[in-house]
Amino acid sequence: MTVPQHIRTDEPMATLDVDRSDAAYRKWLKEAVRKVQADANRSADTHLLRFPLPETWGIDLYLKDESTHPTGSLKHRLARSLFLYGLCNGWIRPDRPVIEASSGSTAVSEAYFAKLIGVPFIAVMPRTTSAEKCRLIEFHGGRCHFVDDPRRMYEASAALAAETGGHYMDQFTYAERATDWRGNNNIAESVYRQMELERYPEPAWIVATAGTGGTSATIARYVHYMQYDTRVCVADPENSCFFEGWTTGDAGVTTDRGSRIEGIGRPRMEPSFVPGAVDRMMKVPDAASVAAVRALEEAIGRRAGGSTGTGLWSALKIVSEMVAAGRTGSVVTLLCDPGDRYLDKYYSDDWLAAQGLDIAPYRAAITSLLATGVWPD
Ligand SMILES: Cc1ncc(COP(=O)(O)O)c(C=O)c1O
Repeated sequence: MTVPQHIRTDEPMATLDVDRSDAAYRKWLKEAVRKVQADANRSADTHLLRFPLPETWGIDLYLKDESTHPTGSLKHRLARSLFLYGLCNGWIRPDRPVIEASSGSTAVSEAYFAKLIGVPFIAVMPRTTSAEKCRLIEFHGGRCHFVDDPRRMYEASAALAAETGGHYMDQFTYAERATDWRGNNNIAESVYRQMELERYPEPAWIVATAGTGGTSATIARYVHYMQYDTRVCVADPENSCFFEGWTTGDAGVTTDRGSRIEGIGRPRMEPSFVPGAVDRMMKVPDAASVAAVRALEEAIGRRAGGSTGTGLWSALKIVSEMVAAGRTGSVVTLLCDPGDRYLDKYYSDDWLAAQGLDIAPYRAAITSLLATGVWPD
């Protein structure tokens, strides 16, 4: 064997020893982790709501209501996981800012956790982000930094982190691995536990939407790990490349416009989206997503964001297929965040007109489906 010249074999090697332990930092770290864990400990589980369908169909449709988290969206779970991951990896440091690229919801939740542990927070977001989300980020003590082109969010965040000595959280890369997909009360485990006393406890389908892809990855991995028969569908809006990337297998697809459905739909295949774990994808017109959230309000008296509509539209299509096949069972989708964040968008007819969106045919389709069980072509 050839021995590299710089390694001497003729005399015993000295022990090299670098100790970077820092008592003050470790004390801060312990306290920060305790505060994040304590927040989880104070929190209750989110509800599983029923969307009324005709009893005779033998199909039950549910929405996991993630809008009731302290920061109002499913991103509360992700933000908690990312903070714990960043803290335990030694990436988040006292007094150093946390920076995140976000379409808004993650930033609201991360601003909350940054404040909880006492570090500054900067959200890098598209300029079109809803005013209410910006207000919430600032309410939690965060700062908003806008970019005109949503595709530039990633590099702008990395640049800000380098400039400030902060940590770029990078949800789009780390969402899938920061979340405990085997259990630990993740969103999927919680759904299955809440379904235990239902007439069809194991859902035939769970429908998710994708921003980072982390939620769909967690659900799909959990389903496979637990050996359930449930199938997982991801609903994608317009101006997003997940559907095309998934159907063609091309991880390099991009789109040149930002999604109108806040929180979901991305201009590139995000690293946290795990295509192989997903059974099915649907591409949903934005007008259908808005029609579905309006129908949700009529059905259960709750307003939700556009991404909830994207998932609900796909879930209703699956329900109609089950009716047609004479199949009974349950379908679960997510109520991702509340509608009061989007009064100037999905609940504004002026916004719809400005966007050239006509929701009338899609509303009629939902009304007809709920009356007859048949999906109108
Ligand atoms: C409102 C809303 N719905 C759904 C999602 C999708 O979640 P995920 O990032 O886990 O794919 C997001 C993500 O940002 C969101 O903000």
